[in-house]
Amino acid sequence: MTSLVSAVRSQVFGLLARRFAGGNGPYAGLAMLPDKLLWPLHRDGLDPVAEMARRRDREPVSRLPLPLGMRGWLITGFEPVREVLGSLDGYSNDFGKFAGRVGINVTQDPGGLGFADPPVHTRLRKALTPEFTMRRLTRLQPRIEAIVQGRLDEMVGKTDVDLWNDYALPVPALTICELLGVPYEDREYFQKLSTARFDLADGAGASLDAVGESLTYLGGLIERQRREPGDGLLGSLIRTHGNDIDDRELAGLADGVLTGGLETSASMIALGALALMTDDGLRARLADNLDDTVEELLRYMTVVQVAFPRVAIRDHKVGGCDIRAGDIVICSLSGADRDPSAAGAEPDRLDPARPMKRSHLAFGYGIHRCIGAELARMELRIAYPRLFERFPDMRLAVPARELTYRRASIVFGLDALPVTINEGAGPR
Ligand code: HEM
Repeated sequence: MTSLVSAVRSQVFGLLARRFAGGNGPYAGLAMLPDKLLWPLHRDGLDPVAEMARRRDREPVSRLPLPLGMRGWLITGFEPVREVLGSLDGYSNDFGKFAGRVGINVTQDPGGLGFADPPVHTRLRKALTPEFTMRRLTRLQPRIEAIVQGRLDEMVGKTDVDLWNDYALPVPALTICELLGVPYEDREYFQKLSTARFDLADGAGASLDAVGESLTYLGGLIERQRREPGDGLLGSLIRTHGNDIDDRELAGLADGVLTGGLETSASMIALGALALMTDDGLRARLADNLDDTVEELLRYMTVVQVAFPRVAIRDHKVGGCDIRAGDIVICSLSGADRDPSAAGAEPDRLDPARPMKRSHLAFGYGIHRCIGAELARMELRIAYPRLFERFPDMRLAVPARELTYRRASIVFGLDALPVTINEGAGPR
């Protein structure tokens, strides 16, 4: 997600959480606010919490309680979410505007696509788009196959494996390193940063530190590649746009690709593998039904739970509610993707054959729609079938109820996925 897509998103929410959490000074009385603000990031197992459906049914556009006289909205219905994300003149993603509204210093702008408006957004996105064409991705496909097979080879002969650490994380990490031209030796460092920036469960401090660290790390890499551009996306951006994109913008773009494409795809690989492992019918139909299964898993999990915050730039109505210029609007993608008006009957059931009324919003919608969507799909369409072709008897090594999920992370996911890969044994 942004150059900082991820960074940005995490930073903004982190800053919001810190700002509203109180602790010192004038905000001390607001210590209870984070939960009120963060509940759309909580889940009950794989499902959004029950409040999400209640809210969507009764008030798909509802007030989000923000302090200090700020007006905030939480949008949980599919149509209004799509309307906000698709609006070309109603909202701004610009970090400066947002920061101004919530009292954040604009120097903390993490850069990247997700917090930029046209024409800056248009210029930066245009620079990145050629790196994500189908032609480029088709060239990457054999590399992803090789990365997946390499990870599976490493697992052969083991009995107990943490599928999160040994498969779900390294597959997108290696892919992104290859795409971007970032040294894989540094993966543990940036994987940690990528997880930390999204996770607000223990407050915003770690999230903010992770964003800063990531930018510093990428800044060093850019400095080296300015002297000697590498073969990856970073080197290609420097060769083609070296004079019109500055180092800070480059770091923002790289950070968005690095962290936006890592935690998201890793979570999807792990959660999808979990669903396939625990549902014999789903797994049995995977080979014949690959594309629909991947799309349904994307909808059902909607791991990017909320879109970037938008600031309304004019008075207007959404879902019958009066949105005023300056209001902060948070779109719940996980809420929208369980809306029966788009997903059809029984939206909380995982069913690749469901007749969808509208396409899901797991990759967002509008000008900020995920630039890496086709890459992510390619990774998932390779990662799921190869895993079960190699280890058809893979089982959870612990009862499903003992798995631990991220408590309040913008990118929903698992902390670990312990599995048994030898024949038989292990609870489902
Ligand atoms: C399953 C995996 C993924 C999911 C679910 C996902 C989801 C999203 C969503 C929902 C947005 C839009 C946010 C908004 O409008 O506020 C987004 C934007 C973005 N994503 Fe992804 N993403 C995934 C994989 C990737 C990958 C693999 C990359 C890059 C390699 C990537 C890079 C980006 C970037 C750069 C943006 C910002 C686009 C812009 O603002 O113009 N994402 N992603």
